[in-house]
Amino acid sequence: MDKIRIRGGRPLSGSIAVGGAKNAALPLMTACLLTDETLVLRNLPILADINTLCNLLLQHGVAIHLDGAGGACAGRTVELTARGVTNTTAPYDLVRKMRASVLVLGPLVARFGEAKVSLPGGCAIGARPVDLHIKGLQAMGAAIELEGGYMIARAPGGLRGAEIVFPKVSVGATENLLMAATLARGETVLVNAAREPEVSDLAHCLVAMGADITGIGSDTLRIRGVERLHGATHSIVPDRIETGTYAMAAAITGGELDILNTRLDLIASAATVLAQAGVAFTEIEGGIRVSRANGTLAGVDVMTEPYPGFPTDLQAQMMALLCTAQGAGMITETIFENRFMHAPELMRMGARITVHGASALVRGVDRLTGAPVMATDLRASVSLVLAGLAARGETTVNRVYHLDRGYERLEEKLAACGADIERIGGEGGDD
Ligand code: EPZ
Repeated sequence: MDKIRIRGGRPLSGSIAVGGAKNAALPLMTACLLTDETLVLRNLPILADINTLCNLLLQHGVAIHLDGAGGACAGRTVELTARGVTNTTAPYDLVRKMRASVLVLGPLVARFGEAKVSLPGGCAIGARPVDLHIKGLQAMGAAIELEGGYMIARAPGGLRGAEIVFPKVSVGATENLLMAATLARGETVLVNAAREPEVSDLAHCLVAMGADITGIGSDTLRIRGVERLHGATHSIVPDRIETGTYAMAAAITGGELDILNTRLDLIASAATVLAQAGVAFTEIEGGIRVSRANGTLAGVDVMTEPYPGFPTDLQAQMMALLCTAQGAGMITETIFENRFMHAPELMRMGARITVHGASALVRGVDRLTGAPVMATDLRASVSLVLAGLAARGETTVNRVYHLDRGYERLEEKLAACGADIERIGGEGGDD
């Protein structure tokens, strides 16, 4: 299994292009199931998770054409045509690889009146139930049975509009029900809906496909169902988590990066917190420039929240940053119940962290030291890469496949900006 080896202590300098958002691309790709015409998505990131979803859509009978002509920075274009869908089952073997597979549920039931989708089960960062997806579809008239580890949904006469009040904000449930509602009879209102830019990106694409949606960007989405949707061409929103990760890479190494193909407003809350910690952001043409404001970083308190709050997907990276700041900072994770697995690994690199329930107190140290480390999810893994870039000596990050799920050519992008980082092929085993 591949590893990443980093010799730390070099300030990064140069520019890094950000790709389309993984977490927008995944629901956008499943939206192709809503129409028999072709959906064209531009700025597609090339990632393991995108590949997994392609395999799932292929087995449903979707025709997929991937065009590499966009060039490394511009991303690729994918054409998805769900005309010949023959199979409405999403099998366990594919769903267990990637939870976002559950996003085929809403579109399949809405268009075909049936779907059988494996329950995804828990994962490294928490239990992550899908009850809100199920309850929402039931409110829209679907009959759902749980059998043999599968959700079997039926709505032979089609779905009908409903008012759905989410008891907690869920990105995935909002996306699933938003897609389902576009083809339901009558009006659906999603109250306390997720406002993440990836949700809005999906909504804009659905409108381009002929859906009638108002309230995009707010916490109340109003969808009037239409008879059918048609094809469209849509460019995927830049990846704000990749943007924030590279911003922190610049800051933790004391370097300066131009992060391109992205926008500052996508990471506004993270930028505010990072500015308090001593990170300077300047908007430049096509992106943002990031460096330290005055040479040092300071501890700050951070709480993860649904958008527009500080994203849970940047929490691990923020912890790495605080490890080398002056003073202490408190991180409180409110979205997932088990998202501090990176803390003990960072402590193996000399970090001073005390975890108590949903909070972690991080006391800055002068310097981290390199060590072999590993993590069990994507953002935890990249936080270890950031720590490795700042540490004295050599760090080896194991289980690189986590990184490949969400960061395209991570080590190439960092190496081009002066990092001493390389991927080394492993021979089985990963520890
Ligand atoms: C999305 O996951 C992202 N994934 C996650 O990105 C991200 O961390 C998360 O949103 C929060 O921002 C994709 O977009 C593909 P949720 P999702 O439903 O939709 C609970 C990454 O690293 N909940 O908003 O699965 C749930 O357990 C990742 O790229 C229920 O209780 O997250 C959690 O505590 C990982 N019942 C909270 O809501 C439900 O039916 C928010 O989860 C659904 C969710």
